[in-house]
Amino acid sequence: MTIDQFNFAGKKAIVRVDFNVPLDENGKVTDDTRIRGALPTLKKILADGGALIIMSHMGKPKGKVNPKFSLGQIVDNVAAALGTPVKFAPDCAKAKDAADALKPGEVLLLENLRFYPEEEGKPVGIEKTDPAYDDAKKAMKASQKEFAKTLASYADCYVMDAFGTAHRKHASTAVIDDFFDKDHKMLGYLMEKEVQAVDNVLGNIKRPFVAIMGGSKVSSKIGIIENLLGKVDKLILCGGMTYTFAKAHNGEIGQSIVELDKLDVALGVEELAKKNGVELILGSDCTATDGLDFSSMTVKPGSKIITCPANEIPADLQGVDAGPESQKAFAEAIKGAKTILWNGPAGVFECDNFTAGSRAIGEAIAEATAEGAFSLIGGGDSVACVNKFGLADKVSYISTGGGALLEAIEGKVLPGVEAINK
Ligand code: 3PG
Repeated sequence: MTIDQFNFAGKKAIVRVDFNVPLDENGKVTDDTRIRGALPTLKKILADGGALIIMSHMGKPKGKVNPKFSLGQIVDNVAAALGTPVKFAPDCAKAKDAADALKPGEVLLLENLRFYPEEEGKPVGIEKTDPAYDDAKKAMKASQKEFAKTLASYADCYVMDAFGTAHRKHASTAVIDDFFDKDHKMLGYLMEKEVQAVDNVLGNIKRPFVAIMGGSKVSSKIGIIENLLGKVDKLILCGGMTYTFAKAHNGEIGQSIVELDKLDVALGVEELAKKNGVELILGSDCTATDGLDFSSMTVKPGSKIITCPANEIPADLQGVDAGPESQKAFAEAIKGAKTILWNGPAGVFECDNFTAGSRAIGEAIAEATAEGAFSLIGGGDSVACVNKFGLADKVSYISTGGGALLEAIEGKVLPGVEAINK
């Protein structure tokens, strides 16, 4: 079943979206890309004359109620985006009455699914090494099924449109579908678009293919980095990862972020790149400071800010952005690319003093796109960069997925897609 074929008139639809949007310290949405991304599906259901039950997770509340992660904070944003009032169910597992009362054209947003451990389906408070773990896991799987059944009982049909969470095998993404027959479950428009964008990259790679991976940890990106080294012509590694590579070659990295237990992994990446004939571009210089206040994302008055080689950072300073030489090298590598993938910033772009590295990458991608490249941007931070620098309409596609996008690019089948197709 595709969403286009389905007529929602008189039906209640439960839609899994990914409204895990960034909030500021006052609970205000700072980037609504994911809300806007789900609108085509949500609006089609309402335009057909259906009633809408929206469900999502937010953050990682680990199976416990935590007001910091309440979806109640985004009700007004969803209502404004849809142009219609949105009711709120403060307990996602006790929303049957509210769902039953919905009339065509009405919208109900459920509270964070992850306030229940059943959503993720992992046993709580017991270590994997505990002899009772297997039994606890079995019991949790059974209650996860019950939880999914409860959610399914609210609606006549199920739409999966949470691309950002499609790599998770959770109750609302890959168990709930068991309670709908094949004519009453489908992927939404966002899922269709995202899967198509991944296909545009992988199905028909136009070369040169340049990938830019940033972010602070090599460990969280190693799977995709190794995978990309089998696909791309050039790989730019930037952001906090830079300092683990510099350290692996005995560089002086001062107070910079580093994964000391991943130095061999970094060297392995360099070796694999060489073996595969991939040009690996690492930041050669950086902007370093001793005064970045991470809570306010400002530089304390009187702090030092210098440019130095990424492997000669003074002991009291921390690398926080790519330096001018690196920016030039990154832009040069992106120039002329025909396929581009960007995930992860080159520096602490949230602080206005340290946007230059990420901006240089964003602008080079925009230029290459104007010359005919297909550019795919994914991951909350890179998307925020593109929005912050006013480049959103100068790239080919902005994905709402972070981890999900990377797994799809790795060629893994996403459980959220598989569930609908099975
Ligand atoms: C994301 O932000 O990547 C998605 O919402 C998935 O979140 P998760 O990594 O907490 O599952």
